[in-house]
Amino acid sequence: MKKRIAIFISGRGSNMDAILRQAHEGILRDVCEIVLVFSNNPDAKGLETAKSYGIATICIPSKGKKREDFDRAVIDLLAPLQIDYIILAGYMRLISPFFIKTYRDRIINIHPADTRAFQGVGGYDWAFENKLKKTHITVHYVDEGMDTGDIIEQRELDISKMTTLGQIEKAGLALEHIMFSEVLRKLFENEQ
Ligand code: GRF
Repeated sequence: MKKRIAIFISGRGSNMDAILRQAHEGILRDVCEIVLVFSNNPDAKGLETAKSYGIATICIPSKGKKREDFDRAVIDLLAPLQIDYIILAGYMRLISPFFIKTYRDRIINIHPADTRAFQGVGGYDWAFENKLKKTHITVHYVDEGMDTGDIIEQRELDISKMTTLGQIEKAGLALEHIMFSEVLRKLFENEQ
């Protein structure tokens, strides 16, 4: 059975775009169906991209809402859709413990650093400012903490010859776009 997926975004949505492409005509085609793209930000550019694939999009603006109230509304929205996995692709909001409990081990995030070394926003800036020779991209389960969930897979990125933040971001995102779908494919096919 194909996994039923909701992708959560807050902005650009380039990881979402890569996953939608793979689900449409690539390595995710036979293992999952993208049921919904959800955003907490009405201005997220990724919403337009999702629509261009014909995917259902829903936005519930989170601005000014209490975390618990907002997350309850999102849970109510997802309940009838029988979602197997929630994929966070640049979703810039910490998720409440009761939300995590409802989808325990079924929420997956991509993080642009080694989550054991750096959590939160700005993983590429961190690697650049600390003049790292290599950094890591991490795909991990989401738990109650900020980027603290169990690691599913990490891939190393050699940045030793890169001299600008822009170069690091470009190379990192290119790796993210390949890696995320490959990791999801492995996970979903192991559960068939
Ligand atoms: C990516 O770097 C991802 O690792 C991080 O947020 C960024 C989202 O970019 N969690 P995009 O919206 O997928 O383009």
